[in-house]
Amino acid sequence: MEFSTQVTTSLHQLRTSALAVGVFADSIMTAQAETLDQASQGAIKRVLGQEFTGTSGQTLVLRDINGVRAERIVLVGLGKQEEFNSKAHYKAELAFAKCCVQLQVSDACSALLAVPASGTELGLRARLSGQAVGDATYKYTRTLTKPDSIKPPKLKKFSVWTQKSLQSQVQEALIQAHALVQGMSLAKELGNLPGNICTPTYLAEQAKSLSKQHKSLKVTVLEQKQIESLGMGSFLSVARGSVQPPKFIVLHYKGKKTGTSAKSGKGPIVLVGKGITFDSGGISIKPAATMDEMKYDMCGAASVLGTIHAMALMQWQGEVVGLIPTCENLPSGQANKPGDVVTSMSGQTIEILNTDAEGRLILCDALTYAERYKPEAVIDIATLTGACVVALGSVNTGLFSTSDELANDLLSAGKAALDPAWRMPMDDDYQEQLKSNFADIANIGGPKAGAVTAACFLSRFTKAYRWAHLDIAGTAWNSGAQKGATGRPVPLLVQYLLGQDKQ
Ligand code: BES
Ligand code: MN
Ligand code: ZN
Repeated sequence: MEFSTQVTTSLHQLRTSALAVGVFADSIMTAQAETLDQASQGAIKRVLGQEFTGTSGQTLVLRDINGVRAERIVLVGLGKQEEFNSKAHYKAELAFAKCCVQLQVSDACSALLAVPASGTELGLRARLSGQAVGDATYKYTRTLTKPDSIKPPKLKKFSVWTQKSLQSQVQEALIQAHALVQGMSLAKELGNLPGNICTPTYLAEQAKSLSKQHKSLKVTVLEQKQIESLGMGSFLSVARGSVQPPKFIVLHYKGKKTGTSAKSGKGPIVLVGKGITFDSGGISIKPAATMDEMKYDMCGAASVLGTIHAMALMQWQGEVVGLIPTCENLPSGQANKPGDVVTSMSGQTIEILNTDAEGRLILCDALTYAERYKPEAVIDIATLTGACVVALGSVNTGLFSTSDELANDLLSAGKAALDPAWRMPMDDDYQEQLKSNFADIANIGGPKAGAVTAACFLSRFTKAYRWAHLDIAGTAWNSGAQKGATGRPVPLLVQYLLGQDKQ
């Protein structure tokens, strides 16, 4: 996908296969719609109130309009004028991009960014335009062979119509959009790949190939032996049930200006991603129905790879470390059993009461490993609990943090990027549920507040730094007919990291 700007002063002279202009609800025309309507002697007015009224997400294609150079005008409904904000704008761009995919055009131009929207800055909205195009054009094809079921979208060039004075600002945002889209596509693709292809070894290879693309990115993959020497007994206990060897992937991105941030005494931001490439539950095996969806149990890892890829593509100036413990969770003669006690890298012992609570067992050792970076903050991202899906559904990611400042930064990043999170409680009282008679801590806390006790478990390993945990079990993929990875929370994380520049 190629993103660019167009600054043709009169919209009717702009050449493109499909030109999007907005119409508000109750057929209220935007300035751009007015311009085209005048140039075409009322071609737009003629359909308003009839075929088209401007409700949010509605599209109507007008072809070969006299007086207009664009091959097609696509009217896009913006919803109520007084409610037009960045989210309504994103929805409109998404509707337009989906329309372009259906039209099979290879280039398109949107004039929707020129519509004033309340409460957001232009750069962010430009980035969201690109993101909408990315979301409309991503298609999984890797393991499909029948041509008619594939039909990859033809849209290759997407431009944004803007005023000359804003061009450079929009252009810069589109570079970020392009990077974000690629990061999200990587996260989606890795999530969607089946567990027999996307193994721990495959994830490690992906990370290595990223480091070949980006000079400022160094990748180290720790193998079984090295993981043993580090004493990651908790992580290794999960990996033991599978013949696939575990990997501990370390990605270290240092942007150009790291020197200055080092002077300011700031360590890197560390992102820790859960990389269970398939979660059967282990000996505490899961029911068969929808177990296939547990190939998505590495979406935290995928979001770390996607985010770092995006930051590297936009040549971000900060420093970020990605840590990915990755393995399979399978039952076998060697697998963890309920009642087993393992020793984590931190030295704390853990009683495994349920082998299906494996995410926290691999994350805790990665969280201990993170200490060596003296990080500014550590954020782990994990498809951790079904309980989080019950609590928040697929709208909000669950956010847990012992730092109000970090929590607020992440909440506002999510809100701005339209990738929202909702803060959940972490009162000390919940820690009671993790008591064990046979170890320092149990790996489950009973049926109550399952998402919270999972976070409480992780908190025992995060005393050395500011920490937040994102439970993406409900937001990383869609189930049902639309089954597929969403690329979340890459937009939140990218937005958060970009925000670090300003501090
Ligand atoms: N990967 C699952 C969490 C999950 C479940 C994500 C459903 C998305 C949908 C995790 O490893 C798990 O199995 N968690 C258990 C924890 C329980 C045993 C305390 C769960 O949520 O059931
Ligand atoms: Mn599990
Ligand atoms: Zn899991």
